[in-house]
Parts: sequence; structure tokens; C-alpha cells
Amino acid sequence: MSRSNKLWGGRFLKSTSTATEEFSASIRYDYRLYNHDIDGSLAHARMLCSKEVISVDEFAAIENGLKKIRGEIESNSFKWSETLEDVHMNIEAALTSHIGEAGKKLHTGRSRNDQVATDMRLFLREELDEICLQLTKLQYVLISLAKREAGTIFPGYTHMQSAQPVTLGHHILAWNEMLQRDYQRLQECRRRINLCPLGSAALAGTSYPIDRDMTAKELGFDGLCLNSLDAVSDRDFIIEFTAHASLLMVHFSRMSEELVLWSSDAFNFIDLGDEFCTGSSIMPQKKNPDVAELARGKCGRVTGNLMALLMLMKGQPLTYNRDNQEDKEPLFDTVDTLHICLRVFTAMFPGVTFNYKRMHAAATRGYSTATDLADYLVKKNMAFRDAHEVVGKVVGYAVKNGIELADIELDRLKSFCTVIERDVYNILDLQGSVNARDHIGGTAPGRVMQAATDARNLLDARVSETG
Ligand code: ARG
Repeated sequence: MSRSNKLWGGRFLKSTSTATEEFSASIRYDYRLYNHDIDGSLAHARMLCSKEVISVDEFAAIENGLKKIRGEIESNSFKWSETLEDVHMNIEAALTSHIGEAGKKLHTGRSRNDQVATDMRLFLREELDEICLQLTKLQYVLISLAKREAGTIFPGYTHMQSAQPVTLGHHILAWNEMLQRDYQRLQECRRRINLCPLGSAALAGTSYPIDRDMTAKELGFDGLCLNSLDAVSDRDFIIEFTAHASLLMVHFSRMSEELVLWSSDAFNFIDLGDEFCTGSSIMPQKKNPDVAELARGKCGRVTGNLMALLMLMKGQPLTYNRDNQEDKEPLFDTVDTLHICLRVFTAMFPGVTFNYKRMHAAATRGYSTATDLADYLVKKNMAFRDAHEVVGKVVGYAVKNGIELADIELDRLKSFCTVIERDVYNILDLQGSVNARDHIGGTAPGRVMQAATDARNLLDARVSETG
């Protein structure tokens, strides 16, 4: 007689040691899959019934039992047991204790291996859709900010050195481009998530007359996993998602770094809003950009999850190995981190206030219109390299005298190059400089306005597609 109290205990003479139980149980975290696990079981049982593997009455009992269990879980009255290892066996054991014999038939033609693979795909599909929705909201916020700031002069940097004036709206739309690509990547990955492993059973498929298309359709999958061995062992979809999530977090981290810099005393370009900053327990004057810093920090965490998942799969022979249970915590953590980052950034951006004077002054400093002066000379028929040389000398003069290019008198400018006329001051001016960059992808206010409108139209189309 079996001495084990497990659902799989038939061949065991001794029960599992407490340490093993503690070591191998996943219920602490995989209870989160309960809804998808129940959906998967309902679809499987309905299919078994339609193929007359179980009777109509048995199906009815299973359906009622599972729905009751869902209710118990949702009202917090369900008793999870660590001895029952995971979410699958907790629910199945409860089903049998509720409805008796019929409950024991649910697992016909199925294994926890195809069951958990199905649960994970359903879970990730739902989370991904929610994340994409939030991402869309954040993009809307950025785009309307970009519209508002389409004409605002802002210092553009390379090497963190003031380079050329740009518009703030243009800078914000650069962030939107990053997020746009993140969205596309996630959608692309969704196609590979949304395939159904059910029917693969433990690894080799099943000898029951199953209808895989029926279960897949009922669960909203676009198609089937086409090889049972791969279906139970594949976790590529989780790795792919986490890779895209890591890149999204890299984008958050880059934005955060800018927000931290801009809100510092040295830059003083922005105020992040009290609701999104925290104080210091010792220095009463402090207002710290903690949200941005935490997001920057959480990037490391998600990238760490990606590494964990890659190493989890490396070296696993086909097919299912228990290693795979370790896919859950990194994925859950990744999903939770994305949700909270998206939410807090979407809430924070509309309240950010800009210090236009400081941004303008910073854009003026550092001879940021030197390239415009060179371009001016080129338009007067000088070769670009010669123009570069002349402007280098003009900048040297300005540095030596501690003045800006626009402060140099016309006679002095002419002493560097006779073709310079009074109209030069139009281009030495910041507004003239940004206005001149009037092409697709350029920073001229009109272009930024147009780019923001185009970006918004893309989002509108996305929303009407996804409903
Ligand atoms: N809790 C397990 C997991 O997450 C479920 C599958 C267990 N399968 C098995 N053959 N032990 O992977």
C-alpha cells in the first residue's frame, strides 16, 4: 500500500521528507496561475466530454466543481496546501474532494507538463496585453507633452557636452520612439506565446481521441504547438518576453537617468512634482528623485531575471525537467516590475514642470550654434572643411573672451571671414538654429508638431485595432 499522501504517491513506500517538500513546493508563488489553470481544465474537460472520453454528467460535475473552487479562491476561503506541491495538484485534489469520482477523471489524457506550459502561456498573454495597454497610455502622455513643448528650446547633448540646440518636444519624441519599438517587439512575441501545448501530455502525446483544435480555440489560442516534445519543454516565449522587458527597462533607466540629471541642482531643468519625490530623514531641504532612481535600479533586476531564465534552460535535455519550475519567480517578478514602472511613469510625466529659462540658458552656453555658423559659410560658397576651420577660430576667440558667439560684433566676425554679413545673427540665434532643421526626423518645431501628430495617429490606430 502507498505510504505517500500525494496524488502521484502510488509507487512510493515512504513519504516525502519535509526538506524535500519545502524545497520542491511551488504553491507559494504559482497559486497566481489558478485562474488560467481552471480555464485550461475546463477546456480540457469539455473536449474530453465532446469526444466521449468522459460522460456529460461527469463533465457537468467537473465544471461545477471547478467554478466553485474558483469562487473559494477568490473569496480567500480556499486552503492551499504545501504538501500538494503546486497549484495544479491543489486544485485537482480539491475537485475530487468536492465531487468525488468524476474529479479523478479530469487528468485523463493530460499531464502537469502540458498543463503548466498552457497555464504559463495563458498567464503571459494576459499580462502582456495589460502591459501593452499601459505602454500605450504612457505613449499618449509623452506625445501630448511633446506637442506642448514642440517649440521649446532645449540643449541637445553628445558626450554629455552641450552640442546643438534642439526642441524639448523632439527629445520627448525620442523616448516615444524607444517605447514604440518596445510595443512592436512585445506584439511580435505575443504571436509565439499564443500557441496551445495541451494534448502533448507528459511528452509523447496521448492515446485518447483528443481534439487539440477544440481546446486551443476555446482558450483563445491562435494555433497549436506542433511537436509534443518541444511543447512541454519550451520556455523560449518566457525568455523572449523577458528580453523585451529588459530592453524596455533599459529605456526606463535611460529616461530616469535624464530625469535625475535634469532635476539636480546643477541642471535645474525640471521639477518632478512632490508626489513623485521623497525627502531625507536627516537633511530637511532634500527632495530626491526616488521614482526615477528606483526605475533605474529595477532595470538591473529585470535583466537579472533574463539571465536567470537563460541559464535555467541552458543544458536542459528534452523534454520537461523539474528545472522548469524555476521559470515562475523571474517571470512574475518581471511582469510585476513592468506594471509598476509603467504606472508610476504614466502618472508622473504630466506633472513634471520645466524651467524654460534654465533650459534656454543651457542651450545658449557651449557655442551650440557653431555648426550653424559653419553651415552659413558653406552657403556662402566655402567648403565645409574650411568653414569648420574658420568657426573653430571664432569659437577660440569667444572662449578666450568669455562670451557667446552671438555676442561677437560683426566687424570682429568679419575679421575671421569677410563673407560674414549681418544676417549671421539670425542663425547664431537658437530659434534660427532649430527652425533650420526642417526635415523628416528633424527638430524644427513644425516638424516636431507633425511627428507628434503622426505618432498619435499610430496610437489611435493601435487602439481601434485592439479594441
Ligand atoms: N510545478 C511544476 C512546474 O512548475 C508543474 C509540473 C510538474 N511536472 C512534473 N513532472 N513534476 O513545472
